[in-house]
Amino acid sequence: MKKAILVLHGPNLNLLGSREPGVYGRLSLAEVDREIKRYGRTRGVRVECRQSNHEGELIEALQTAGRKGFHAVVFNPGAFTHYSIALRDAVSGIALPVVEVHLSNVHAREEFRRHSVIAAAARGQISGFGLQSYLLGIDAALGALGSGRQTREAGR
Ligand code: DQA
Repeated sequence: MKKAILVLHGPNLNLLGSREPGVYGRLSLAEVDREIKRYGRTRGVRVECRQSNHEGELIEALQTAGRKGFHAVVFNPGAFTHYSIALRDAVSGIALPVVEVHLSNVHAREEFRRHSVIAAAARGQISGFGLQSYLLGIDAALGALGSGRQTREAGR
């Protein structure tokens, strides 16, 4: 069966392209989404992209992802990464693998960005590769969906 991945962008990512381009790049969200979908096609996976500035909407998107036919989520929680226990609980509360991604290298920035409350609930975190963080996230999600060794060795 063809796999389906939900790519979820959190707050302020709708401003990509104009928002701190030195940090987040010059591609708009529409351009980023186009590249993610193009990559998904090369990997034989159906990808849908959604963005919300609202914590509750992100929680609902996570909660309903399985019901909507998605097998995994690639999630950039934006600033919620650093403090939203509600999003962390949503990530822990669903059966789908969630890969946390960030455009910027959050570990090389301000102190408050170095901690993710989401990371422990996610399968893993990819940070600092710009658009490629999402593409690596798709591959990581596909790896997590493979019933193979990689998943078992990671203790999940
Ligand atoms: C971000 C990093 C966060 O610290 C920040 O609040 C964002 C974007 C990233 O993709 O690098 O909004 O998640």
